[in-house]
Amino acid sequence: MNKVFCTNHPLVEHKLGLLRDQGTKPFQFRMLIDEISTFLLFEATKDLNLKEIQIQTPVSNAKVKKLNEKIMICPILRAALGMLESVFRLIPDASVGFLGFARNEETLKADFYFEKIPQDAAKRVAIVIDPMFATGGTAIEACKFLKSKGVKKIKFISILVTPKGIENFRKVHKDIEIYVAAIDENLNEKGYIVPGLGDAGDRVFNTLG
Ligand code: URA
Repeated sequence: MNKVFCTNHPLVEHKLGLLRDQGTKPFQFRMLIDEISTFLLFEATKDLNLKEIQIQTPVSNAKVKKLNEKIMICPILRAALGMLESVFRLIPDASVGFLGFARNEETLKADFYFEKIPQDAAKRVAIVIDPMFATGGTAIEACKFLKSKGVKKIKFISILVTPKGIENFRKVHKDIEIYVAAIDENLNEKGYIVPGLGDAGDRVFNTLG
């Protein structure tokens, strides 16, 4: 059974309230997405492998820890680009594997239209990022694609998820942990998460019109 880690950190709860508010301006929305992603990334990376190395401090020799895994961040275009900077801040050496999915407004399903992942993707821990995990359709396809390329260890970070999305995802990817800021109640007839925050991509890129 895959685990869903839902943070209840007071700062995240507070920031999530601001993020949901339709009066929040795009620049503030981007900042909040970035900050919440940082919290979730801390959790999602808590079991990364370390190795011990010797270094010299100004005072003496010291044994210190160094990351012993290569990371690949996979933002699902386009809304997840708003989360990418926070990952680079914490893991500057991460590679990026872009996955492009576009919502088909008729079927409400995600069409896979683009991918660009590093050549050594199979040797990396993949952290897939997408702020909205609605039906789970995009998440399922993204992780299927990564597995087809030989990626063994995958984690998923989202801001909002629905119970239906988790249920659908679990049927296909029992092995992948999901890290989220909140589990919302439902989806409406247009496929939007309720209460949600609207279209995350439009709010990040100010394309609401
Ligand atoms: N994608 C979004 O941007 N918002 C939703 O509510 C669902 C999917």
